[in-house]
Amino acid sequence: MTSSRRSAGISRRGFLTGAAGLAGAGVGAAAVGFAVERDASTADPARETVDFYGRHQAGITTPMAVHANYIGLNLADRTDTAALRGVLTLWTQDGARLTQGVAGLSDIEPELAAAPSRMTVTVGVGPGVFDSPTLASRRPSWLRPLPAFGIDRLESRWGQTDLLLLITSDDAMSLAHATSILTAEVRTIAPVAWVQRGFHARRNMFGQIDGTEQPPSADYDKLIWNDGAEQPWLAGGSSMVIRRIAMHMDTWEELDRGPRDLVLGRKQDTGAPLTGTHEHDQPDFAMTQGGIPVIPASSHIARAHRRADHEQYLRRPYTYDEWPDGTGLIFTTVQRDPVRQFLPSQQRLAEHDDLNEWTTPIGSAVYALLPGATPQAPLGTSLLAT
Ligand code: HEM
Repeated sequence: MTSSRRSAGISRRGFLTGAAGLAGAGVGAAAVGFAVERDASTADPARETVDFYGRHQAGITTPMAVHANYIGLNLADRTDTAALRGVLTLWTQDGARLTQGVAGLSDIEPELAAAPSRMTVTVGVGPGVFDSPTLASRRPSWLRPLPAFGIDRLESRWGQTDLLLLITSDDAMSLAHATSILTAEVRTIAPVAWVQRGFHARRNMFGQIDGTEQPPSADYDKLIWNDGAEQPWLAGGSSMVIRRIAMHMDTWEELDRGPRDLVLGRKQDTGAPLTGTHEHDQPDFAMTQGGIPVIPASSHIARAHRRADHEQYLRRPYTYDEWPDGTGLIFTTVQRDPVRQFLPSQQRLAEHDDLNEWTTPIGSAVYALLPGATPQAPLGTSLLAT
């Protein structure tokens, strides 16, 4: 899967195909044949596309889009693998179309598909899928609920589901349209349990720069993508942890800037660690002043920081703002193995993190993200192979 800015040629072809679909012609992109190549820097961002097909699904390491809908669905009958295959095939067909600016197969509002704006569609499966006797032996060992943590106040309405459909786009209307299409067509076999709507910005609602310390892309093969060693069907896939974490704005607003920075271990204005001046300066957890650590050992970054090389994962937090119900993060991580890579830091933070006074986890779910699809092999082909 490539997630680079695509040349306008591809985007424009997709758009023209959409227009052809409008006329009822249903012509494939290649048949349109007169795509105009333009410099990507002058491309219309609304028509910018991310490949849907590839070894990996898009939306896992792709640069984050502005808007995201996380959709949790439950299978009406977990033993019905034919129904599951149907859902995954429909999502492949329409995911491949909508992400390229082409109307869905039974799209009654095809005009709304014309501005994909870097849309991605990503599909995951929860533990419940492996309740089916034919799939039981294919469950990855780590695909189970995270242990209960003392800080949790989990609400079942944000809990684990059988399927995850994650749709992202820079355009809110295109996202709403794709959400409507992809959920409506599976309504009877896989009804929606919850939708978590979020947006991504450089700062979170506490005003902090979020997303500074991340593993380098050179390490994705090792840290993000499954190698198929335990479950051959999952090679090229990954895993996603979704924690819905409420952020308590009322009490956070009572805190002055100095204490805020000590709670995080970084300066809110620049995002620099308390031991540095620039955002990407490495924090020096050993530095002391008058015998006291400059970055408090109890601060969020000191507690969250990896204690071993394998404790690394990609954080992809989206902000939710459901005022007056509350605001917070759809805190999302992707990694090859959540138990090995993610759980140690989550356990540490649950034991102590100064930030916990202002945050409360209210939702938790874990999914295996399927390997990528090709036009010949829809999502789930390796999982459902007989
Ligand atoms: C509402 C809850 C949370 C907020 C507001 C928050 C905010 C932040 C911010 C502002 C940073 C510093 C900038 C950066 O490196 O991105 C950070 C770093 C980090 N956070 Fe969180 N975070 C939250 C929850 C969590 C959770 C639940 C985990 C993992 C279980 C986590 C893991 C990390 C890690 C690993 C880092 C990088 C630490 C390092 O410097 O090595 N965070 N977080």
